Amino acid sequence: MARIENVRCQRVLDSRGDWTIETKISLDDGTVVVQPVPSGASVGENEAKYIDEEKAADFVSTSINDILIGKDPGNQKLIDEILIKMDGTKDKSRLGANSIISVSLAAAQAAAKSKDLELYSYLNFLYNGKEKPKGELKFPTPIFNVLNGGKHARNNLSFQEFMVIPALNTPLNQAIGMGVEIYKDLKRLLVDEGFETGVGDEGGFEPHGLSADTALDFLKRAIDSHYEVGSDVFLGMDAAAGSFYKNGKYVVSEEHLSLTSKEMIDYYSNLFSKYELIYLEDPLFEKDLDGWKELHSNFANKLMIVGDDLVATNPEILRSVAKEKMINAVIVKPNQIGTLTETLEFIKEARKSKMAVIISHRSGENPNDTFISDLAVAVEADFIKSGAPARGERVAKYNRLLEIFYGF
Ligand code: PGA
Ligand code: ZN
Repeated sequence: MARIENVRCQRVLDSRGDWTIETKISLDDGTVVVQPVPSGASVGENEAKYIDEEKAADFVSTSINDILIGKDPGNQKLIDEILIKMDGTKDKSRLGANSIISVSLAAAQAAAKSKDLELYSYLNFLYNGKEKPKGELKFPTPIFNVLNGGKHARNNLSFQEFMVIPALNTPLNQAIGMGVEIYKDLKRLLVDEGFETGVGDEGGFEPHGLSADTALDFLKRAIDSHYEVGSDVFLGMDAAAGSFYKNGKYVVSEEHLSLTSKEMIDYYSNLFSKYELIYLEDPLFEKDLDGWKELHSNFANKLMIVGDDLVATNPEILRSVAKEKMINAVIVKPNQIGTLTETLEFIKEARKSKMAVIISHRSGENPNDTFISDLAVAVEADFIKSGAPARGERVAKYNRLLEIFYGF
């Protein structure tokens, strides 16, 4: 059994040109892996906390290195326990969630590589005690974020993401092909009608002058060019409503609206009656719990009501949210909680509560990081979010899925 010989961390840039970190783990059998760390722009209050990158890199290369030398990288639980204990805070704010997640994921990668296993196969072993045989893989449905607003764009749209979702059970290669075609048809429509086609942080277009209504209308027409909306492809939104919740009101400034929770729910209800929406992520602020309950009681049988900032990949929060009936699907972002072990526990908890599982990237990403693709295959996630089918750091995740799909 190979042992950890060295843990090193350095500052590098992410896809937004912001500083982040990457951790390199070397084992005594010659295995070397590098794991970069993504970062969010619409960060929920319940997320584990990042610290300054220089400090993070320093912690990893000194005290974390010291404590992990000689440890078995295949003992993920032990490694994560050591990191959690060493940090000693509830929100990982001392060592930093960025430091901790980079080491936690790097350890898993190192163990897989040392055992000569595909990462998804090894992660499946960590998840349920079995390595995944080739040929028995289930692939997530990709959710393509093709139009950006909110904190991911420089336009006037309050809502963060407008998404197209191929029908369930569409083979992965076809689903990705559909995303690409719709993305290009959308671009053509925007150009034809005089809108800009610059892209936001997740690769979706960021035209100025749209509302949720006109954005969804564009998506619908783009899909219509080659497919049928409502049978081949469906629509989704990530409102990231926490980013436009101000002083107790939802401020949809592009429409000069300042809405109460109830009015915000009516607003969605109106969109739902006009468009083939099946997916609504963070429709309300994470502390507007009565609103979430109300929305759930009205829509849970027709829509995926998806908790992102609300649950922040935190198993403890999910347990209490599940009791209250607020969501029927969850976003999984390993860096929101900070360790792989807790991420896997969260997914198990979601399955216990019969919730759909969506593995997700962050808005700040790295083209060398495709961990989430392997994770999605390992845990048989229902969906994966990796932005538009454009921009290197976004397509890297789709390409890794294709690699696994074709057994490349
Ligand atoms: P973030 O956005 O990575 O900027 O937090 C992604 C999301 O809200 O799903
Ligand atoms: Zn979100």
